Amino acid sequence: MSDGDRFRYDNKRALVVGCYSGMGESTAKIVQGLGAEVHGVDYKRPTFDLTSFTSCDLRNEADIESLLASLDGTFDSVFYCAGLPPTHPAIDVMRVNVAAVRAVVDGVVPKVPRGGAISIISSTGGLGFLQHMAPIMELLQTDGFDGAVEWCEQHGDLVAEGYVFSKEVIIVYTMLKALELADAGVRVNCISPGPTQTPMMPEFEAMSGPELLQKFEGPMRRKALPDEMGWPLAFLNSDAASFVNGCNLVIDGGFLAGTMTGVIDVAALLA
Ligand SMILES: NC(=O)c1ccc[n+]([C@@H]2O[C@H](COP(=O)([O-])OP(=O)(O)OC[C@H]3O[C@@H](n4cnc5c(N)ncnc54)[C@H](O)[C@@H]3O)[C@@H](O)[C@H]2O)c1
Repeated sequence: MSDGDRFRYDNKRALVVGCYSGMGESTAKIVQGLGAEVHGVDYKRPTFDLTSFTSCDLRNEADIESLLASLDGTFDSVFYCAGLPPTHPAIDVMRVNVAAVRAVVDGVVPKVPRGGAISIISSTGGLGFLQHMAPIMELLQTDGFDGAVEWCEQHGDLVAEGYVFSKEVIIVYTMLKALELADAGVRVNCISPGPTQTPMMPEFEAMSGPELLQKFEGPMRRKALPDEMGWPLAFLNSDAASFVNGCNLVIDGGFLAGTMTGVIDVAALLA
């Protein structure tokens, strides 16, 4: 294998959950172009060609069980890109952004061979996860899809609108899963995108107003494009990233760098 080949997906089978639009669509197309056989999952049927497509509503445990039962063979690469924004009921956000992530990833792990990799999408919105480690660990110790949903229903104050807490949970879940699967030779990582121009963006803009979101664009003074998340995801699950594990890759055009160095004053932005 030449060095450049490590970025490629020839002879690999990839599962892309949330392949209909945005970052998932972009990731599916990118890894397909890099040689992968791509199997897609979503509750909306994509308009581009995939090796297979399975319809699955990730709010629904029975749908997830039939998805897992229908999956044949092994998957070298799993991307969980599905997500709901905070314009949806908080419990649905927690179902898709947390309970289903765990159900799908845990369910598919026996099909991921040594050398395989799993990547999940969190958000810069989840970077405050350290403040909530105790309840996040408690949630992650619940049993199954229903156990997670029940915990969320009992902790409405913490879950709030669902989105921010769901993304915090995913960062911690990624780290724990990476540790758990290291001996099996399976890597697990997540990305935390900043504002990205996908079909979800108008929903964020409807909630916070486009002006506020624009202020959070950071030093590159624009939103990311879906491919600017798809390519890093493709890298994370490729053999080129063979020692990258348990990582939360923040992809925000330098916004976090600005806040950590004090160059960007978040309080002033919010004022
Ligand atoms: N767009 C942003 O600014 C931004 C920033 C940070 C993180 N994210 C996260 O990125 C991920 C991808 O979102 P996106 O921005 O590409 O938006 P998107 O709406 O284009 O993608 C979300 C995908 O999830 C699928 N999906 C949603 N609910 C589903 C369900 N119940 N069952 C099956 N599939 C379902 C949608 O059909 C779609 O394909 C999400 O987790 C989102 O929270 C987005």
